[in-house]
Amino acid sequence: MSTYQGLEILLSREQIAARIQEMGAQISKDLVGEKLVMIGVLKGAAPFLSDLARAVTVDATFDFVAVKSYAKGSKTSSGAVKLIKDLDEPIEGQNVLIVEDILDTGLTLTYLRKVFLQHHPKTLRIAALLDKPSRRIEKIEADYVGFSIPNLFVIGFGMDFAERYRNLPDICLMPPDVP
Ligand code: PRP
Repeated sequence: MSTYQGLEILLSREQIAARIQEMGAQISKDLVGEKLVMIGVLKGAAPFLSDLARAVTVDATFDFVAVKSYAKGSKTSSGAVKLIKDLDEPIEGQNVLIVEDILDTGLTLTYLRKVFLQHHPKTLRIAALLDKPSRRIEKIEADYVGFSIPNLFVIGFGMDFAERYRNLPDICLMPPDVP
């Protein structure tokens, strides 16, 4: 078992970097000659977007949205998602790639896909670094998936526990004994 700062590593920085290069190459192939708007979903997607953007060879711009999910941290799991930071630029007629650190229940991406489609992009695709298919509530899949993982509590590379650990360079397992 590899560890970093005493945490068990699920996916190492080397594995992540290699997979992001492959994803970037595939996205570049699919969009050759086209422009791309990469939309990061704050906050967890920031490191992934940063690396993925440098792995694509197409002409790309960035935008960011933030959402609040009422399914999490609330006792009433309503599944409601609200946009708390909207796009800065219009996406009508653009090739859009939503960039997410993790596709879990699918509630967030189902909501964002619906909202973005109302803006009539030319194409709309999803890149998720991690996918937890066993957790899905909504029927949604990413076009580009870095790693499909079981239902583990993961931290690092953008993913947090109470806002901590986002800056870990590897994707690690959350230890059970942390308060
Ligand atoms: C995480 C992740 C996705 C969402 C996926 O965000 O970044 O946005 O959950 O979960 P879902 O498929 O069940 O909707 P989180 O709400 O933890 O916010 P963060 O990115 O700021 O950490």
